[in-house]
Amino acid sequence: MTELTSQKDASLAAIGAATTLDALEEQRVGALGKKGWVSLALKTLGQMSPDERKEAAPAIQAVRGEVAAAIEAKKAALEGAALEAQLASETIDLTLPAPSVPQGSIHPVSQVMDELAEIFADLGFAVATGPEIEDDWHNFTALNMDESHPARAMHDTFYFPDTAEDGGKLLLRTHTSPVQIRSMKAQGAPIRIIAPGRVYRSDSDATHTPMFHQVEGLVIDRDIHLGHLKWTLETFFKAFFEREDITLRLRPSYFPFTEPSVEFDVGYANEGNRRVVGGHGDDEGHDWMELGGSGMVNRRVLEFAGVDPDEYQGFAFGLGIDRIAMLKYGMNDLRAFFDGDPRWLSHYGFSPYDQPTLSAGVGVKS
Ligand code: PHE
Repeated sequence: MTELTSQKDASLAAIGAATTLDALEEQRVGALGKKGWVSLALKTLGQMSPDERKEAAPAIQAVRGEVAAAIEAKKAALEGAALEAQLASETIDLTLPAPSVPQGSIHPVSQVMDELAEIFADLGFAVATGPEIEDDWHNFTALNMDESHPARAMHDTFYFPDTAEDGGKLLLRTHTSPVQIRSMKAQGAPIRIIAPGRVYRSDSDATHTPMFHQVEGLVIDRDIHLGHLKWTLETFFKAFFEREDITLRLRPSYFPFTEPSVEFDVGYANEGNRRVVGGHGDDEGHDWMELGGSGMVNRRVLEFAGVDPDEYQGFAFGLGIDRIAMLKYGMNDLRAFFDGDPRWLSHYGFSPYDQPTLSAGVGVKS
């Protein structure tokens, strides 16, 4: 028993003197661990006579309790001190200037979408949105592509196994044109909107990614004609590329949802390995580049969307946002847009302070 008492005193002293959690743990193992002196003392109970045991057992248990309590108390004290020290070392002086390291950047696609909204808002367009998970009625049928229409196959559509509420197929929208339908159904005519957003097609190479961005434009009113379309696109491109010498060429084309349909090209020149928009495509050193599709909205589409085609008519257009972003800011690989590489993002990304405005210039890169 005297041995036990001296062991206890030594142990309590060492626990009291421990300055780290590791040192304390060493004491715990030495006393209460499997081979610790308290555990060994408890084991001796087995060889004792019942009378001896009756006396020794409570004494050993009392020592055990005392040592365990001392360890607990010391542990709490050491942890408390560690936390205090950590908090003290992590104090932030809010009066210091902000760190100079850039914290992130605005993706060129987001920036271009803001530029689009700014330019078109000035022309009286509102921004409309629609779901990326669409049903085949909005994505195809209401756009004059019934089930057997060959254009459906050309869209490389991603379908879901589930069906829509109306029993139709669910899919990832292949273009922003279904927003035409949704907006007309919701608002009727007259209407003047753009709808920028993500679209999806099962296609992937240097110039195609399975997800890309389009902006849809729609103007429905009385007496709208193709001239309004050409002026709108020209005015937009002049503001977007920030140059006056933009030449647009309309070429006859076909889309089930427009009649007549036209594709629009813009004149450009090769400067080094970069294409620079501007000039007349037929001029020396110039050529035409296709930028999008458009046309007068097909009467059938107006009917599907609940607009009276005898009273209202208008135009629609669709163009690739990634494409015009690449042209304006000089990137040449579309895939890099969606890799999320911080080096690419810090090079091509925009400062959050670069808000596109018509007065300060849309898309000034600082
Ligand atoms: N939705 C068409 C496409 O993705 C583009 C387009 C939009 C054409 C509006 C005409 C009118 O190819």
